[in-house]
Amino acid sequence: MLVSGRVILGSLAAAVHAQWHHGSSIDFHSILDSNPLTLVAFVAPWTAPSKSLASEWATAKFQLTYPLVSIDWTAEPSLCTAHKVHSYPAIRLFHVPDESTRYGGPRKASAIVSFVVRASLPAVSEVNVKNITDLVGIDRVTVVAHLKIDEGSMRSKFTRVAEAFRNQFVFGIADDKRLAQKEKIEFPSIIAYKTDVGDQEVLHGAVKRSVIESFVLEAGKPLIDELTRRNELNYMSSHELIAYIFVTDAADRASLRRKFHPVAKQYKDCVNFVTIDGIEYGHISPSLGLHRGHYPGFTVYSAWKDQVFPYPAVKGIGADNIEEFLLEILHGKRAPWNPAGAGHGQHDEL
Ligand SMILES: *[C@@H]1O[C@H](CO)[C@@H](O)[C@H](O)[C@H]1NC(C)=O
Repeated sequence: MLVSGRVILGSLAAAVHAQWHHGSSIDFHSILDSNPLTLVAFVAPWTAPSKSLASEWATAKFQLTYPLVSIDWTAEPSLCTAHKVHSYPAIRLFHVPDESTRYGGPRKASAIVSFVVRASLPAVSEVNVKNITDLVGIDRVTVVAHLKIDEGSMRSKFTRVAEAFRNQFVFGIADDKRLAQKEKIEFPSIIAYKTDVGDQEVLHGAVKRSVIESFVLEAGKPLIDELTRRNELNYMSSHELIAYIFVTDAADRASLRRKFHPVAKQYKDCVNFVTIDGIEYGHISPSLGLHRGHYPGFTVYSAWKDQVFPYPAVKGIGADNIEEFLLEILHGKRAPWNPAGAGHGQHDEL
């Protein structure tokens, strides 16, 4: 009941916001001329991807102080051709008229907003103990180098890495003894703050640029990623267990990722945690021992041995319970689910 109630509310809210207010080519040029950054969506309004972008676009527009303009391809075909737009929707960020960056991330308001905010910042922002929180928290991952002013070589290496990855992460530099004490680190050190899961990684000492680069990329990878058509094969071909967290809304996904993060980190060498959309992938949940529609749900699968271990839904999904459950599987103390056994594995019939 709760789940279907939420789905209905969600789609009503989307329907209310899902209105495009397209600009003309005259609007387009005058807005670009008078703003340092303008985000433009070129859309083909009758197509499903353009329709589903409408509510995300409206939400992003509400959250950003920079202008967002949408252009209807049917009304302004020559404008689309002039900007080499060949597939729809296409999102471009215009820095100055005619200089634009393609947006290739998820077509979700939060990702679009982060992209524009990152673009509005310098490649590296100076921070201190008083204002570091203004920078950390803008995005999922913020990388801050804690360096003394005379550590010129580390500074220039870090800046080059920041320039290369500024489209993905936020970067800062701090030369503040009090902040270093607070973080319990020595100069020089680099900290990757992962605000979405409340964790951080530290790289100590003066290192080569390639080491900084690998650190940033590794820290930037979500430990609990979302399973999509694009990455599912990587998980399926792995010998490690896959721990599926079935969810249907963004708030559940965010809170369960945060809750499971410490367990996922501890067992990352033998278990891959993923979140999975219970609506898009609902059809596979019965084969993983879960009742379709009863989400959030948790189940563990070994692609290697083709064994399923559904988590009994009568128990609460807490980090401690999950760890105990995983250890039982890893130590061979839990029998795999047997679907032929008249649904014995489906523990959640209440
Ligand atoms: C933090 O404060 C310093 C010193 O006042 C300033 O130079 C810097 O731009 C500020 N950083 C941010 C992100 O506001």
